[in-house]
Amino acid sequence: MPSTALSLLTVALALVSPILGDVLPRADSSAFLPTLSNNSAAAWPPPYANGGYAWTSAFTRAQSLVSQMTLEEKVTLITGQPGRCVGMTGAVPRLGIPALCLEDGPAGVRPVQGVSQFPAGQAAAATWDRELIYKRGYAMGKEFYDQGVNVALGPVTGGPLGRSPRGGRNFEGFFDDAYATGEAAYMTVRGMQDSGVLATAKHYIGYEQETYRDPFNQSESYDVFPVNEQTPISSNIDNKALHELYMWGFAEAVRAGVGYVMCSYNEVNQTHSCANAYTLNNLLKGELNFQGGVMSDWGGDWGDAEFINGGLDMSMPGVGFGGIFGPFWGQNLLPYIANGTVTEGRVDDAAIRTLTPWIFSNQPAYPPPAVTWNADPQYYETEDAYWRDVRQVETMTLIRQIGEDSATLLKNTNNALPLGAPKVIAIVGSDAGPNELGELDGGGSNAYPGWNLNGTLTLGGGSGWAIPPYVVTPYEAINYRGRALNSQVYAIFNDTAYDAVNVTVPSANVAIVFVSAFTREGEDRATLYLDNDADTLINIVAANNNNTIVVMNAGGPILVEAWIDNPNVTAVIAAHFPGQEAGAAITNVLFGDVSPSGKLPYTIGYSLDDYAPDTIVATPVLQPQAYFNESTLVDYRWFSANNITPRFEFGYGLSYSTFAYSNISVESVFWPDTTSVQQTHEPFEAWDGTNSIYDIVAQVMAQVQNTGDVRASETAQLYATFPGSPGIWLRGFDKLKGMAPGETRAASFPLRRKDLSLWSTERQLWYVPEGEIQLQVGASSTKLYLATSLSH
Ligand SMILES: *[C@@H]1O[C@H](CO)[C@@H](O)[C@H](O)[C@H]1NC(C)=O
Ligand SMILES: *[C@@H]1O[C@H](CO)[C@@H](O)[C@H](O)[C@H]1NC(C)=O
Ligand SMILES: *[C@@H]1O[C@H](CO)[C@@H](O)[C@H](O)[C@H]1NC(C)=O
Ligand SMILES: *[C@@H]1O[C@H](CO)[C@@H](O)[C@H](O)[C@H]1NC(C)=O
Ligand SMILES: *[C@@H]1O[C@H](CO)[C@@H](O)[C@H](O)[C@H]1NC(C)=O
Ligand SMILES: *[C@@H]1O[C@H](CO)[C@@H](O)[C@H](O)[C@H]1NC(C)=O
Ligand SMILES: *[C@@H]1O[C@H](CO)[C@@H](O)[C@H](O)[C@H]1NC(C)=O
Ligand SMILES: *[C@@H]1O[C@H](CO)[C@@H](O)[C@H](O)[C@H]1NC(C)=O
Ligand SMILES: *[C@@H]1O[C@H](CO)[C@@H](O)[C@H](O)[C@H]1NC(C)=O
Ligand SMILES: *[C@@H]1O[C@H](CO)[C@@H](O)[C@H](O)[C@H]1NC(C)=O
Ligand SMILES: *[C@@H]1O[C@H](CO)[C@@H](O)[C@H](O)[C@H]1NC(C)=O
Repeated sequence: MPSTALSLLTVALALVSPILGDVLPRADSSAFLPTLSNNSAAAWPPPYANGGYAWTSAFTRAQSLVSQMTLEEKVTLITGQPGRCVGMTGAVPRLGIPALCLEDGPAGVRPVQGVSQFPAGQAAAATWDRELIYKRGYAMGKEFYDQGVNVALGPVTGGPLGRSPRGGRNFEGFFDDAYATGEAAYMTVRGMQDSGVLATAKHYIGYEQETYRDPFNQSESYDVFPVNEQTPISSNIDNKALHELYMWGFAEAVRAGVGYVMCSYNEVNQTHSCANAYTLNNLLKGELNFQGGVMSDWGGDWGDAEFINGGLDMSMPGVGFGGIFGPFWGQNLLPYIANGTVTEGRVDDAAIRTLTPWIFSNQPAYPPPAVTWNADPQYYETEDAYWRDVRQVETMTLIRQIGEDSATLLKNTNNALPLGAPKVIAIVGSDAGPNELGELDGGGSNAYPGWNLNGTLTLGGGSGWAIPPYVVTPYEAINYRGRALNSQVYAIFNDTAYDAVNVTVPSANVAIVFVSAFTREGEDRATLYLDNDADTLINIVAANNNNTIVVMNAGGPILVEAWIDNPNVTAVIAAHFPGQEAGAAITNVLFGDVSPSGKLPYTIGYSLDDYAPDTIVATPVLQPQAYFNESTLVDYRWFSANNITPRFEFGYGLSYSTFAYSNISVESVFWPDTTSVQQTHEPFEAWDGTNSIYDIVAQVMAQVQNTGDVRASETAQLYATFPGSPGIWLRGFDKLKGMAPGETRAASFPLRRKDLSLWSTERQLWYVPEGEIQLQVGASSTKLYLATSLSH
């Protein structure tokens, strides 16, 4: 067996000068030829569950319950049934097993009233604050539980990861980075499940575009063929990217003990991801040792035997919704079992996997309350719908705080911010104001906002939407603040009322323009520009006011070249999708009650051409193919490997203070893994039969001083460069919160064996590469002020 400890042969001393991007190797431009997965059940037989490390007794109880069921009861249990929730498992009342309620989504319970609209996952990510991310998960999870939900359909743990900056659902997930998404996935799953609800890690795997996702029997805006003729987009992913990028967040969710995993609409190497024996049986249930149930996304199941044999455990929504998503399983499975195509053992395993997390969660003893609301569109918004309000007062504060701490200051010149007490304030833009039709209208906003995008944009659309119980608009909060400051406040909500702008903004001491870019499930963004011709609006405001501040509510990168260098645009904030407290949060940042501390969870380029090409495939063919030719070079990794200068780099964000970095050190440590609720079986070179790939084997420390004159927080980041591998990798971050002026604090970056590893496609294991691993610490992915290294 190889030595377990990472040997530190050399430890370089700190360089207190910036390391420039041009020392980094260039991308390997050679394209790969995807090969079909070997999906025969014989190649990757489904590993039967055994409860893993943490669920042994729950597993035994599930096994005993399933052993008492008839075959019909078992197939009913694992097939979605009609009922009050978007998904229901089948009940077995004889054995005391209720129908479990499965409900959207990743930013709050949908589609019901009486819940909170949380900040989007991407906004939570922009805080870089593990504690806040945990608290968001907990508060959100509690609302699910209190609304009578057993299984929440979130979080998004790396599907999408953000391969394309145009991805329509990127806002639902966290960072465009594997490691940081993994951290957020772990914290969110722990938070949600600590509150009593079960979480679902989704969408597994390689789900990186909305275009041609093709749910079974459903029409989408991009359709060019009748439904079910065009196969879903095939994500052709090489084995290295699969491990080093796309699986990482799922590994963290599994480690956190996530109950369920949702497989995605897309194919992977030309096999439906919900029937992909390689990704489900070999990788998820094998390498990651996942012990819970795999459910299909609604319309992701296109068949019977090949899906259950391929590793799917729960067909959703099954015969629910009148079977419109494809009425697979249930009775349909019986002939396949009768003739041996599907073994009863596989059905037992699927039933055990469905029940084990539920038993482990303690919900049998402490079930969520019975409620009467009904999310099935057949019953939705009928007169007998009854809403209960489950919100807790302190959740409003949490949501506001995430809004404040995610606000990412991109530009701040002439001391434009914080505002102080301007005599005259102009507020411009529909994104500053209320929704003139109300939040419940719009085809409907409550289910899937389609056309009523009036008013400030607090969240993206689709199943990631949640109905806000109220919205604090920027106008409301600034107007209220301005009155307290004895300011004059003038607001224009019409984005094209240029006459009114010309009349209103010249006399203002500050003109704040609120702009947005909507994004939603089912569609990718057409461009990276702002909506409603906001570039023109910003330039007209700036032409009339030399202190123009831009606030953007968007679900991904925005191209800002039309106005960013205009000297009259003195400050710019990316405010992401902050949820219901949007206006309260941004106002506290604008007026300096809190210093902004958000940092970008994605890269903003100068143009779409700066990003990897062809990441959204829209060629109208029967079998559309997306080749992930950039392999692991997604987002900042693409920019760093190809020496492309970003406009605003991943990890970037200003503060009202300034920080100095110094004194980097690295030491070899051995702190055994204590954070894995469930243990994965990820193979790694240094495995000695007892150690874990999640043991901490090294720690980097650096000092950060608040050199400004306001209390502020700073997220220090650590990036690794591996020998012979292009691009940098985020491998640690530490948010130093509430640092007083002059205060110096240590940032620490514990490095697990996996954080220092790459995946070997040849050997099919993680290994710490030979040679020197460069470790750089700084304020963003390009402002890397300190460097050290580890040798192996
Ligand atoms: C990606 O790789 C495939 C297979 O090698 C190739 O056919 C295709 O042209 C490549 N696409 C791009 C954009 O390089
Ligand atoms: C897809 O094909 C690539 C290239 O041959 C291979 O490395 C990868 O493992 C395959 N992925 C899956 C999920 O089968
Ligand atoms: C797939 O795996 C099965 C079982 O191991 C094997 O019999 C078959 O030859 C493999 N097919 C391919 C194309 O590799
Ligand atoms: C979708 O499924 C429903 C129910 O099975 C069926 O009535 C309908 O015709 C299907 N729609 C299409 C477009 O196939
Ligand atoms: C098993 O039954 C299914 C469903 O009736 C049928 O499609 C399939 O051909 C049968 N397979 C065998 C090997 O008999
Ligand atoms: C705003 O509401 C109006 C109706 O008052 C509607 O016609 C319009 O489409 C909405 N605008 C947007 C951008 O959704
Ligand atoms: C917005 O302003 C433009 C330009 O003055 C005007 O044409 C348009 O009707 C206004 N929109 C609304 C909804 O009032
Ligand atoms: C508004 O002011 C700008 C800059 O002074 C000018 O270019 C534009 O023509 C004006 N627009 C209107 C509608 O008056
Ligand atoms: C900046 O604003 C002033 C008005 O304060 C205006 O005169 C000037 O033309 C503007 N400059 C630009 C570049 O828009
Ligand atoms: C901005 O315009 C105001 C009012 O016209 C003027 O007093 C101030 O000096 C200008 N500031 C800059 C930086 O040009
Ligand atoms: C530098 O960091 C090391 C390790 O954290 C610490 O022991 C040492 O005191 C620091 N040196 C200074 C000058 O602060």
